[in-house]
Amino acid sequence: MKKQNERMSVTGMKNSRTVELEKIIKSRTAVLDSALDHYLPSENAPPQSLHKAMRYSVFAGGKRIRPMLTLLTAELFTREHETAIPPACAIEFIHTYSLIHDDLPAMDDDDYRRGKPTSHKMFGEGLAVLAGDALLTLAFEILSAPVFTEGPGRKYWERVPSERKLQLFFEIARAAGVKGMVGGQVMDLEAEGKKPRTDLLDTMNDLKTGALLTASMRSGALAAGCGPEELDKVTAFALLLGRAFQVVDDLLDVEGDAGKMGKAKGADAHKKKASYVSCCGLQETREIRDRLYVRAVRELESLGKGTGALRTLTDFIFYRDF
Ligand code: IPE
Ligand code: IPE
Ligand code: MG
Ligand code: MG
Ligand code: MG
Repeated sequence: MKKQNERMSVTGMKNSRTVELEKIIKSRTAVLDSALDHYLPSENAPPQSLHKAMRYSVFAGGKRIRPMLTLLTAELFTREHETAIPPACAIEFIHTYSLIHDDLPAMDDDDYRRGKPTSHKMFGEGLAVLAGDALLTLAFEILSAPVFTEGPGRKYWERVPSERKLQLFFEIARAAGVKGMVGGQVMDLEAEGKKPRTDLLDTMNDLKTGALLTASMRSGALAAGCGPEELDKVTAFALLLGRAFQVVDDLLDVEGDAGKMGKAKGADAHKKKASYVSCCGLQETREIRDRLYVRAVRELESLGKGTGALRTLTDFIFYRDF
């Protein structure tokens, strides 16, 4: 399986924006991968099996969209964007945990993820559950670590006022839990075999996927010290991007290429999932995505100068092929 940078370069958009996208991804991915490596326990330390499973999923070749959004958002408001590295890593750990659990036989029962066998296929269900649990708790350990803890971005992170850090901690916890990802995943399980109304479908997807994406951007902004008006603009954009992320994921389940995506195609129909495609049809789903794109670009433009990298990533997210 190709690594993420290579996978990013096969999007078919052969123009200057592709080059720009690759530049953005390459530089941020290097920073993120080294930080994630630092924050993960060593494979040589006991319990080795657990650490191996945690590292296996984190380095399986995910796109790193969420932590990249955290860094790019922080860059809008500060030169010291390293301040956003701890929350960026925390969010990628939470996201990876959510995928490990999402793939379990008790949930979506998937065998492939990020181009490799899923965690439970490699390590068994018990370790997969525990690797997910350990990644989730590691996220909050990073966010609440005492001052003078060594690590990427910590020098700047320690300068973030305590009340900001607490807000950030609260927002990430909420986005991961009942009022976010976990709540949305419950709705997703209970909607199997049903055809919910579009407003319910939107709520489900805003919770299961949009909440963590929104938290990714808000925590970048908060760590960088942005003001309330700018934070509102970031949030308005992130909500649209978060919703679109799942719309496109549902489209790709029907139209995508399994090899490129690194996960099975047709899994939603197989599990009778309430996806945008099963509820609204293929053409309407494409139109929902296009309408969200127009609104998202408008919101992003309202943030003013310096949003070029975010715009490039936005175009990729809306029209990606994996
Ligand atoms: C997949 O997320 C799960 C959804 C929330 C739709 P990504 O498409 O970001 O997965 P990775 O991180 O690149 O593997
Ligand atoms: C997963 O949505 C959302 C999560 C919160 C993990 P999907 O079940 O559609 O994600 P994929 O298609 O398995 O990546
Ligand atoms: Mg699922
Ligand atoms: Mg799934
Ligand atoms: Mg999906």
